[in-house]
Amino acid sequence: MTVTREDLAAAATALRAGELVAFPTETVYGLGADASSPDALRRLYEVKGRPADHPVIVHIANSEALSTWAADVPDSARRLAAACWPGPLTLVLRRAAGVLDQATGGLDTVGVRVPDQRVALALLDEFGGGIAAPSANRYGRVSPTTADDVRADLGADVDVVLDDGPCRVGVESTIVDCSSPKVSILREGGVTHGQVEAILGATVLLDTDARGAVRAPGTHESHYAPRARVDLVAADELETWVLAAVARGDRVGVISTDGSGAVPDGAVVLGRPTSAEEYARSLYALLRAADQQRLDVVVAVAPEAVGIGAAVADRLRRAAAPRPREQR
Ligand code: TXA
Ligand code: MG
Repeated sequence: MTVTREDLAAAATALRAGELVAFPTETVYGLGADASSPDALRRLYEVKGRPADHPVIVHIANSEALSTWAADVPDSARRLAAACWPGPLTLVLRRAAGVLDQATGGLDTVGVRVPDQRVALALLDEFGGGIAAPSANRYGRVSPTTADDVRADLGADVDVVLDDGPCRVGVESTIVDCSSPKVSILREGGVTHGQVEAILGATVLLDTDARGAVRAPGTHESHYAPRARVDLVAADELETWVLAAVARGDRVGVISTDGSGAVPDGAVVLGRPTSAEEYARSLYALLRAADQQRLDVVVAVAPEAVGIGAAVADRLRRAAAPRPREQR
């Protein structure tokens, strides 16, 4: 599990050769490709099975590298970067000339972040350029929080996997759009809404769609989903809901918060996180465990949607959304 200097050198060489390198970040594992190589990016999209108009996040070593990627860095972005980087925050900015269409999905903006993880930072340092890295899972599936998750999902399609243990935050970065004067949050994540507003000293809106789900271009309504169906219920509905599913003959798993009462017999308790942070850290592992145990349905009670609990509630809502056929 220890990543050596030789491992890092080999990983950087692989990136330069257009290969794909999975690496840990503080949020989830990323599937990295050289962000300035069209061929590497093509391969990345192919392996993820991701639509070409869905942009990726470019990971950089520090704020100084911003000028390579962003045409214009407004004061709001500078303040957020100074306060949160390295950390679970992605900034969407107007892209610099020379940034490839393949990295931005053809948009005139680019997403960039400096991850807060020692192996990620060492790899960026060793490689020297920007690393395009979506979460290292197939499109629409649960994000990986361990190197084993990456191997289980991507198998031989990933050339190098750097293993530095489980991710500390467990849900993806917060995406803040600073490309227009009206700053907004496109995805809730590791940096809370309250932190963003405190740093900017202003009210910042969530850019949500009609159903209230936070919107980022190309993001499917149904995302982060295990094979099992996910039913999101209120704490006081949990018992009735589980009993009904068990009575139908479903194999039921439960993820519930501390205060949501007893889980009836006949259901598997997947997890009962005692804080929003623990919920975030364990969420994807619990959803994966449901599939490993071949459960039919996960009945989940979301944490209160404040702080990082908002990101957890968002991911659960997406996991519970109706799915297109090919994703079932
Ligand atoms: O925590 C994270 O952000 C992880 C780790 C690996 O860094 N990465 C991640 O990447 O979650 P991915 O590809 O799974 O999600 C990237 C999200 C997508 O929803 C995409 O639409 C949005 O970022 N995004 C990227 N560039 C954008 C842009 N220019 N404008 C708006 N949204 C953008
Ligand atoms: Mg993802």
